[in-house]
Amino acid sequence: MKISDLGFKKGRIAECIVTTYNEDGSPNAAPMGVRAPSEKELIMKIHAESDTCSNLLRSKGCVINVVFDPYLFLKTALTGRAKGGKEPEVGKNEIKKAKRVDAPFLRGAHAFIEAKLKEHKEYVKKDEYKKSRFCAARCEVSRVVVNKRYPVAVNRGLSAAVELAIALSRERKDLQRYMKVMRKSLNSGEYKKIKRLLVSLGI
Ligand SMILES: Cc1cc2nc3c(=O)[nH]c(=O)nc-3n(C[C@H](O)[C@H](O)[C@H](O)COP(=O)(O)O)c2cc1C
Repeated sequence: MKISDLGFKKGRIAECIVTTYNEDGSPNAAPMGVRAPSEKELIMKIHAESDTCSNLLRSKGCVINVVFDPYLFLKTALTGRAKGGKEPEVGKNEIKKAKRVDAPFLRGAHAFIEAKLKEHKEYVKKDEYKKSRFCAARCEVSRVVVNKRYPVAVNRGLSAAVELAIALSRERKDLQRYMKVMRKSLNSGEYKKIKRLLVSLGI
């Protein structure tokens, strides 16, 4: 199985949910942009303060999950940030242990890649507000698993949820616009679940 068949192509960023184990053995999940310079390599630029970064450096492995669940993108982006096992983003029933790396995968993932850390480099990124420490992690593809073989039609609600998750973790602009797209394009159960999550987080 080629990772390019799953959308991991040179020059593109695939938005995925990366799963690792926290130090206490609980699962951690966070959306990350993943670059694929070749069929065998994956690169992530990860905030050095995140759980994903410390877990990946400690265990030398992670799972990159291909998911199409708008709620999961929001939940894993907005909860449990740098909280380790104190605030797990997913329950133990939602994950299973990967075979080739010391990390879990999401049972609901359409596909997942088990990836081994090959090397990493820390650097400081400056934007107009602040300086942040990042880690560029280069991983090797170890195992690719496809669970759902059929294509998924584009849904604007999913794109809006991904953009909303990014907006909420950054400049908080256009929130109502994303809510409007989700209300229109997701089914009412999906929309209400997201609305409840946002209300519970005080958003
Ligand atoms: C679509 C999307 C892509 C993201 N990509 C990255 C990324 O490439 N690197 C990063 O450090 N954070 C990224 N984030 C933010 C993290 O997911 C977020 O800070 C998360 O809470 C970190 O959780 P953790 O501390 O459990 O690892 C992204 C968020 C979203 C919604």
